[in-house]
Amino acid sequence: MPIVIGAKPQSSFADPIGLMTDCHRRIERFLSVLVQVCAQAAGGPLTAEQRAAMDTALRYFREAAPKHTADEEQSLFPRLRSLDRPVVKAILARVDELEAQHGDAGLSHAEVDRLGQTWLAAGSLPDADAARLAALLSGLAELYRHHIAMEESQVFPVAAAELDTREREAMGGEMAARRALR
Ligand SMILES: [Fe+2]
Ligand SMILES: [Fe+2]
Repeated sequence: MPIVIGAKPQSSFADPIGLMTDCHRRIERFLSVLVQVCAQAAGGPLTAEQRAAMDTALRYFREAAPKHTADEEQSLFPRLRSLDRPVVKAILARVDELEAQHGDAGLSHAEVDRLGQTWLAAGSLPDADAARLAALLSGLAELYRHHIAMEESQVFPVAAAELDTREREAMGGEMAARRALR
């Protein structure tokens, strides 16, 4: 089965919430790449295609995904916390939960990256490490299923409805700057 890592056109910085949703699709896609490669190769030698796919996916989680976390923790969550409106107050416990999950995901990603880099460098992984990597990836898939569903069904709709144009533009500017696009 081919390993798909291509991207579709994304939302613009004028629509920061749409952009964050696009990031979720990339997180899901690159995580599924890692799950597939691990299932196919099971700690054994990697084909050239599997190596390239794993390298790209590990780099995505090392370099790009942390910017999405920063978009939420530095640009979105503080703006929601500063709004004195009942509909926003009602989701702030969820926001705290999401932020704690970012910490858990970060720890798992660090270990996934270490094991994945070892695999790429050594050409194979000992059985115990391959099993640990598979367990970490399955844990991350489960975490993101809940996490992304909570963000997209409960937090983003409130943000889209309650943050005004000026706030959304400021968020888009911060997200662009985080990616050195302005
Ligand atoms: Fe998040
Ligand atoms: Fe997110």
